[in-house]
Amino acid sequence: MRRALVVGNWKMHGSRASVDALLGSLTPAVADATAEIAVCPSYVHLAQALELCAGTPVAVGAQDCSHMASGAYTGEVAADMLSDLGCRWVILGHSERRQYHAESDDLVAAKLTAAIAAGLQAIVCVGETREQRENGEAEQVVGAQLQGALAAQAGLQDLVVAYEPVWAIGTGLTATPQQAQDMHAFIRQSLAAIAGIDAAQTRLLYGGSVKAGNAAELFAQVDIDGALVGGAALVAEDFQAIVAAAG
Ligand code: PGA
Repeated sequence: MRRALVVGNWKMHGSRASVDALLGSLTPAVADATAEIAVCPSYVHLAQALELCAGTPVAVGAQDCSHMASGAYTGEVAADMLSDLGCRWVILGHSERRQYHAESDDLVAAKLTAAIAAGLQAIVCVGETREQRENGEAEQVVGAQLQGALAAQAGLQDLVVAYEPVWAIGTGLTATPQQAQDMHAFIRQSLAAIAGIDAAQTRLLYGGSVKAGNAAELFAQVDIDGALVGGAALVAEDFQAIVAAAG
């Protein structure tokens, strides 16, 4: 059985006051949830979020980490620092990192190695652009991203993969449940061909304009095990409704 997982990606949003307010509302609202839950605030709000989530079912993760273990890398945050702080999760290879910071599959792979070594659970994001989908290249692109990040990695038993079609992120456009299911089935089949991965046990999240109103039909698909939620994760009642739909 794959336990449902709902992760909030807060991106570059928030203040000390909004983090207090959001987690103050969210943590009691999800106290009885059956789905596993995590939130990923900005680095600067991680310690505050960890304090507010202590003793609740909400785990905390980061949105990225360095590929290096430690050293003279100004501005970087090491995976070890995140696990030492108490983070359980890290999002890697988000399309915004790939797009705005030129992250390659090789870099995502190196970050994944660092995250696993630090004992973090990684959520590796993959997904095609609208142009790639229109050109019929979606599976080829996603397959190459999976291969590039995951081949020759050890310690992948806790891996989570998030399928986030770039054209659906923050746009209000969602993949149809069938489009999402088709790609999730392809991802599961691709994972089965990569050494060290138990594809049947690996959780696959859908991401891209997931909302309270469309979550249930996405979660009803056999290969969708939860969601990576951006915009709707910033509103406690919306995120709570998505968590409830996953339970
Ligand atoms: P969105 O973002 O839900 O706002 O589309 C999802 C993501 O980028 O993780």
